[in-house]
Amino acid sequence: MRYLILSDMHGNWDAFAAVLRRVRRKRFDTTLVLGDLVGYGAGPNQVVEAVKNLEGPVEVVRGNHDKVVCGLEDGSNFNQPALAAARWTADRLTPANMRYVRQMPLGPMEIEEHLHICHGSPLDEDTYVFSIYDAYEIFTNYNAEVVFFGHTHIPSLFVQQPKGIEVAVVQGESFTLKLEEGKRYLLNPGSIGQPRDRDPRAAYITYDSETRTVRWHRVDYAISKAQERIVKSGLPKVLADRLALGI
Ligand SMILES: [Fe+2]
Repeated sequence: MRYLILSDMHGNWDAFAAVLRRVRRKRFDTTLVLGDLVGYGAGPNQVVEAVKNLEGPVEVVRGNHDKVVCGLEDGSNFNQPALAAARWTADRLTPANMRYVRQMPLGPMEIEEHLHICHGSPLDEDTYVFSIYDAYEIFTNYNAEVVFFGHTHIPSLFVQQPKGIEVAVVQGESFTLKLEEGKRYLLNPGSIGQPRDRDPRAAYITYDSETRTVRWHRVDYAISKAQERIVKSGLPKVLADRLALGI
């Protein structure tokens, strides 16, 4: 099976459209979406509609911003710009797109026997997986060979092997990892709509489960357009500024 794995679009239609243009001529069996379709960016309806219109089977789990935008949570743990953006988004989503966001399922979700997806941690959808200790908790308490997760907006990998856990932040335009027997993996594609690894390009993953090959990708997009939309729409300016820095 060939998978396209997308995460944390955050209403950034310019970034998501650039990723979709890049993958248009490639064939995927299934698209996996790791949550946070909305929140922060000025194009939430375009992003939700593009997810609904993806070709072929699509499996989606919800993210923390999706929950706050659709009212499943109140956002009391959000910082001020995030909460302002969630409220702005809730006021603008069409009723059909709001219904779509509200019915996005809670992760983790099993895709194939060896392959699971979630937003934060497979143990808790809102937990950030940054450190070796976070990964250790998961490898100890959650039994899956490969988990794709989002939420941190950092393209990264954690590998459990006999001598311990290896961790890396994935940098550069593309990076390939061949999965090996006897190891277990927590893999994060990074964010399409709001990267935070100081590389402002949109990030995503492709995964071929036959050849057991994972590839991270980065795509340039018109950041200034996304920023202009944010500023014009009355969203907090800091949400525009950070896009150019990848923070
Ligand atoms: Fe996110």
